[in-house]
Amino acid sequence: MSHKIQTLSGYIHEYQKSILQPEEFWSRIAESFHWQKRWDKVLEWDFEGPDVKWFLNGKLNITENILERHLFIMGDKPAIIWEPNDPKEKNIILTYRELYEKVCEFSNAMKAQGIKKGDRVIIYMPMVPEAAIAMLACARVGAVHSVVFAGFSASSLADRINDCEAKMVLTSDGNFRGAKTIDVKGVVDEALEKTRSVEKVIVLQRTKSEVSMKDGRDIWWHDAIKGQPKENKAEVMDAEDMLFILYTSGSTGKPKGVVHTIGGYMIYSYYTFVNVFQYSQGDVYWCTADVGWITGHSYIVYGPLLAGATTLMFEGVPTHPHPGRFWEIVDKYKVNQFYTAPTAIRALQAHGLEPVEPYSLDSLKVIGSVGEPINEEAWHWYHDHIGKGKCPLVDTWWQTETGGIMISALAGITPNKPAHASFPLPGIDPVIVDAEGNELVGNNVEGNLCIKSPWPGILRTTYGDHERCRQTYFSTYKGMYFTGDGAKRDHDGYLRILGRVDDVINVSGHRMGTAEVENAINEHPKVVESAVVGYPHEVKGQGIYAYVICDMEGRTEQNLINEIRETVTKIIGPIAKPDKIQIVPGLPKTRSGKIMRRILRKVASGDANNLGDTSTLLNPEVVEEIIKGAVK
Ligand code: PRX
Repeated sequence: MSHKIQTLSGYIHEYQKSILQPEEFWSRIAESFHWQKRWDKVLEWDFEGPDVKWFLNGKLNITENILERHLFIMGDKPAIIWEPNDPKEKNIILTYRELYEKVCEFSNAMKAQGIKKGDRVIIYMPMVPEAAIAMLACARVGAVHSVVFAGFSASSLADRINDCEAKMVLTSDGNFRGAKTIDVKGVVDEALEKTRSVEKVIVLQRTKSEVSMKDGRDIWWHDAIKGQPKENKAEVMDAEDMLFILYTSGSTGKPKGVVHTIGGYMIYSYYTFVNVFQYSQGDVYWCTADVGWITGHSYIVYGPLLAGATTLMFEGVPTHPHPGRFWEIVDKYKVNQFYTAPTAIRALQAHGLEPVEPYSLDSLKVIGSVGEPINEEAWHWYHDHIGKGKCPLVDTWWQTETGGIMISALAGITPNKPAHASFPLPGIDPVIVDAEGNELVGNNVEGNLCIKSPWPGILRTTYGDHERCRQTYFSTYKGMYFTGDGAKRDHDGYLRILGRVDDVINVSGHRMGTAEVENAINEHPKVVESAVVGYPHEVKGQGIYAYVICDMEGRTEQNLINEIRETVTKIIGPIAKPDKIQIVPGLPKTRSGKIMRRILRKVASGDANNLGDTSTLLNPEVVEEIIKGAVK
């Protein structure tokens, strides 16, 4: 089947059709998949509820579309190529047939351990093929997976387990990352002390570290699959049954569980993968994300495997054992499409060209960027030195909530412009609105980015709290999905994403709520109050700057700063650790007691000259002190 757009006029034609007749457009794509029962209706929606349903009453199992559908013609084709952290360890290549057998075998093991359709299963694992097998095994038995990035702390893991009342955790003994061996099972054990719903834990042996196994609860992966048949019948699922929950940060409170359902997500992750990357059969595709993030879900596992692609999974980090590791892997497997984050590009750019020079990189046809705005300098370095000036660079804008890529060039088809995500994909109707929600038409406009109508990959709810979903995404502008991002349509009509307009910061492509980091800081017994803002960071895109009011008794400033960093690592994980912490005597507040973040953002960015009028503040004198003590 091919739904691949081939030309610019083809894109324009498909786009128009998708907006004018979305139901015809998406059903034509859905028809090429295997459904146990065809849908009765393509789409029902309103954005007030919100209530969005695609392919109503259609019955299917997504893994039949990944596994059985490819067995006959592509059984011997590599589905997953796995490159280990240590280049001296043997790699693993799983064909579609082998993947089928492993998914069936493990899903049988999960059933034997009591998992049934609808149960929630947490996956807290390193980047090994078993992580993908675990996701697919859940989908095969109709369990809802929730992958938690293995860098999150025990307390973050416990929050997620509790929020979705998970019955099972799939994990490993440890995790190899660069030169480090990271404890994984110990984190799970600690998390499980604060949870009650988990009945079984299946543990993959990866690092052969000493771990404790709790009788009756913990079982080794290799024991769980012993004697299990390597085939089974996939559970019959409804198109609108949940496929997965993925927790992500917002501007308030704890991370929320974004819910994606089976039918729409399947069609959307597949369609966007094939078109954005222009994947051709035989190509080797590599996305460097972790399966703990949405990029790993849609563009390491589901999108590529639905398309029958060969997807490469890398366990390690870009700089281990040397800063040419990415490029070595590209040459080793003759990677054709390479997809990474600007933060990785900037980190590698800092090592200069020497680590790139030994590699030809001539297999590359397409390079991609995701997760944060890519600055022009990084864009050019990536385009010139990795893409060798000949590969289209797709700057893909999307979100956990959108399920798949929303705004991007189609590689080699729609034109590229540095640092511009460019044009919407078929089915996507973006608008730029002003603060009142008026649509800003024409070119040369800037405002907030919204989407006017549903696409198959849109989130359906936030787990256990539908009202929060409505509030967060559908209440700011009536009748529209609000992305939380600012955007500009330039004089040529290209869209450029300007970054978050809410209290979410993007650190190395990871989404972080400022309130979430503040709550973690406030857990330190000496902290009185804190305020967290983002500031421009050369490599990470944004860094975390924390202003903290402390009771200093019995502590030096440096001690406190170290302890606060440890507290945040313990409560959220190392990715949330503030880059800069300033102990302050007070925080600038309005007369109604609201913290003036605008001022704090300016000071953190080193732009304290232009703070505007501060005389209306409750405590204007504090601003001077903050400027004086700013951390450079
Ligand atoms: O601010 C946008 C930024 O990342 C946010 C979504 O983060 P998350 O849900 O973690 O998903 C990341 C991977 C899809 C967006 O609201 N973002 C993502 N891609 C881009 C981007 N900003 C600019 N350009 C992009 N290409």
